[in-house]
Parts: sequence; structure tokens; C-alpha cells
Amino acid sequence: MQLTDLMIYSGTTLREALSKIDRNGMGVIFIVNENEQLEGILSDGDIRRALLKGSNLDTAVTSAMNTRFLSLPVNTDDLEILKHISDRVKIIPLVDKAGKLVDYASINKLRRISIAAPLLEGNELAYVTDCIKTNWISSQGKYVRKFEDLFAGYHQGRTSLAVSNGTVALHLALDALKIGQGDEVIVPDLTFAASVNAILYTGATPVLADVDPITWNIDVEHVKKLITPRTKAIMPVHLYGQPCDMDSIMQLAVQHNLFIIEDCAEALGSFYNGVPVGCFGDVATFSFYGNKTITTGEGGMVVFKDKAIADRAATLRDHGMQKTRRYWHEEVGYNYRLTNIQAAIGVAQFERLNEFVEAKKKIAKAYNEAFSQLEFLQVPAAIDNTSNSYWLYTMLVKPEAPFTRDELIDYLHTKGVETRPVFFTMHEMPPYQNFGAADQLSVSTRISDTGISLPSSVNLLDEELAHICHCITSFCNKIEMTVAQ
Ligand SMILES: Cc1ncc(COP(=O)(O)O)c(C=O)c1O
Repeated sequence: MQLTDLMIYSGTTLREALSKIDRNGMGVIFIVNENEQLEGILSDGDIRRALLKGSNLDTAVTSAMNTRFLSLPVNTDDLEILKHISDRVKIIPLVDKAGKLVDYASINKLRRISIAAPLLEGNELAYVTDCIKTNWISSQGKYVRKFEDLFAGYHQGRTSLAVSNGTVALHLALDALKIGQGDEVIVPDLTFAASVNAILYTGATPVLADVDPITWNIDVEHVKKLITPRTKAIMPVHLYGQPCDMDSIMQLAVQHNLFIIEDCAEALGSFYNGVPVGCFGDVATFSFYGNKTITTGEGGMVVFKDKAIADRAATLRDHGMQKTRRYWHEEVGYNYRLTNIQAAIGVAQFERLNEFVEAKKKIAKAYNEAFSQLEFLQVPAAIDNTSNSYWLYTMLVKPEAPFTRDELIDYLHTKGVETRPVFFTMHEMPPYQNFGAADQLSVSTRISDTGISLPSSVNLLDEELAHICHCITSFCNKIEMTVAQ
């Protein structure tokens, strides 16, 4: 249920309140003023009593509402909320510092600060409505082209192809470069499994490289040792928004005649030497899954340096069907297209990209300020010549800390704060165990064991941010005191 289903403005009547209560099925409605500050609560019982006392359905809601009500600050943790929920109080309004109604809690919906929620309050609905009204709901249509053009414009004019998700974006990129059986592709051991899965789909062999202890991205010195005559490509992944060391990677590519496929799924809005990531390699891929910096629900984009390879990929994206001869296939292709409806959301999201990235940077700055002095935490390093878009703010619990990363995660869970551990290393999981030697992947193992990502939604409230910082700081300080005793 949306918050709007539970709120009504103070200028309305009992009739409107009753009809909304009837629709929301909660037996209650919150009354707000024009600034959406909470003024009262009205239950169906309150309305019944008011009618019995002589009010009618055209009476103002304010005359029947309860002004002595329970509300809680939006950053109240689950345990505290639970103390107030009872048979009598089934739903509790949550307000910000200014008293504005911003959420609600019930037994079925305890307040959680989510890790990365989408924000769809721009032109998304208008553009999607346009698709439906004009009947352009499939993968033809102006929004697909517009989304691709916006991406090309952002990435130095490189041809961009919209696809159905970030995983097929990687597969299409590799296939368009004709990477397959007998080839090796060097990929970091610390990434989301899609990077490695896409290599396996082509029949090529992934070769797992360790990561750098400072950037947590692919370690170029280790990559040098892994290059063999069969190496065809390197797939740097700009993890959590931190750009890889692209100068060194491109130097290796030139020296050894290798393709570079940049996996930018987590790094739209990140820059290296003032240039957007995705503009360095032969091909770059992006994801628009619901938790990404911009989203289309599911979706992806492939950005090409070479127009001829982009043309081949466009054919492969569309079943391999010849552009000039309908239903004629020279090779086996795929249906990897994005729909016009998804692209419509993407265009609206892209319009707010800079704003979203700024919001994420602001969140990261606040976390850095709160945690950089804490003895047991290691905040992400600021790397020269790179601009991190901080898709997910991620930090490490130092090995000498008297608590584990998982204990911190469990504690934050009780405080209503959703977190994520860093990815498992690829080499420790059954399908990938043959692609890397554990003793050469020690940095990725340490980061995987100790890393934690914190809520990084672009609409994270200041109160929520303060709550998270307070919880982590007090957890660390309390433990520090216990250790000192
Ligand atoms: C590094 C990386 N590569 C690829 C993907 C795959 O993208 P999608 O989920 O859109 O298939 C993701 C994430 O979701 C990712 O984090």
C-alpha cells in the first residue's frame, strides 16, 4: 500500500475519509495539512461516533479526528516500533523532524531503511503513459532510440544499444567481439557472478584475477601474470562505482592486443581522468536493475567504440536477423531487446542522473565523515583522478576489530537498517572453482569477508542517514569500551 492511500488533507469531509478508509482496508486514515504535516488520525470508529452525535458525511474531517495520537520519528528502529504495536494500535504514522508524514509502520510493514531503492518521481509515469496511449509498448518506439541517444551523448558519441539486462549486455558484448571457445578472458575474482557467467555462456574460459587492496578493483600486476597466448580480453569491473585503473589496463591491452570489456553495471556516473567510465574499452556494459543508479526495472545498455562491431551486435540482439532481408539469419542471434516501456522509464531516470549521482556522493561524504575516525572501520579510499559515483557505499571491518562484519550486519538489522555483505569471491563457489587459485586471490577473499554495503538510496532521508551513522558509531564505541575494560 502507498502512503497516499492512508492520508487525506484536513480540508476534506467525512465522506471522502470514509471512502478512502473503505479502499485502504486499514480502518484508519491520517489527516495532514497542506505541508503534509500530521494533524490527526481518524478511524472508522471515530466516524461512526461522530455520525451518532449528529455529524453528517459532509462534516469536516477535522471535527471528528483524534488529535492526541501516537506517531514516531521515521528513524525509530523495529524493536521500538514493536513495543507500540498492539491490538488497539495496529498502524503507526512515522514523521520527519518537521512533523511531515513520511511513512507508516504496521506489524506487516516494519520500517526498514532499504539498501538502494528506486526513485520514480520524475517523468517516468508520463512517458510510460505515453507508450500505452500510443500503443508503442514493444521494443520499437521512440523511447528506445531516445534512451540510446542519451547514452551515446553521455559516452563521447559511442554507439549504444539498449538490451534487456546487464547480464545479456555482457554476453552480447563478448559475442559481438567473437570471443568463444578456446579463448580466455581475465576477470576479477570479486564481482557479481554475472560478469563470469557471461564469459561462460560464450564457451570461453574465465581467468580470475585478484583485486587491489585500495580500489578493490582488478589488480593489474596480477593480470600481467595471468596473460597467456589464449588470452583474448580483460573485463575490468568498476566495483561499487569506483573506476578501475584504466590507464594501466589500456596499456596492457595495446601491448598484448587484447579486447577490453568494461563492466560498468555499478558505475554509471563515475569518471576516470574526467572521462565517463565506459569510454575506454572496446565495449562497455551497464545494468538498470531496480537497485542501480538509474533503473528501468530490468534493463541494460552496451556501448561500443567501433561502429562495425555495434552493427553486428544490433543484428545479434534481434535474433541475428538481417536488417535488409526480413526473416533471413546468417548466424544464431538472441532476443535481447529492451521494451519501449522500459526505455521510457530509462529516459525519465536519465534526466535525473546527475542529481542522483550528487545525492549518492553526498551520502558517501556523510558516511566518510562519520566513520573515518572509527578505529575498526576502513572507509573507501579517495583515488586520484577518479570520481566515484558511490552506487553502493561500501566499507571494511578491519581484521583486528573485536567484532565481525556479520555481527555488525546483524546489529544493524535489529535497528531497521538493511545492509549487504560484499559479494562472495568467485573462486570459492562451486561453478567457478577451476578458474582461479585460492592462494593467489587473498585480497579479494579478505575484502569479501570483511566488506559491508550501507543504504545508499538517492532519497535517503537526513534523519535516516543520521540514524545509520549513530547506530554504527555507538556499536563501534561500545565494543571499543568493552575491549578497553
Ligand atoms: C558488476 C555487475 N555486472 C553485471 C550485472 C548484471 O546486471 P543485471 O542484473 O542487469 O543482469 C550486475 C548486477 O546486477 C553487476 O553488479
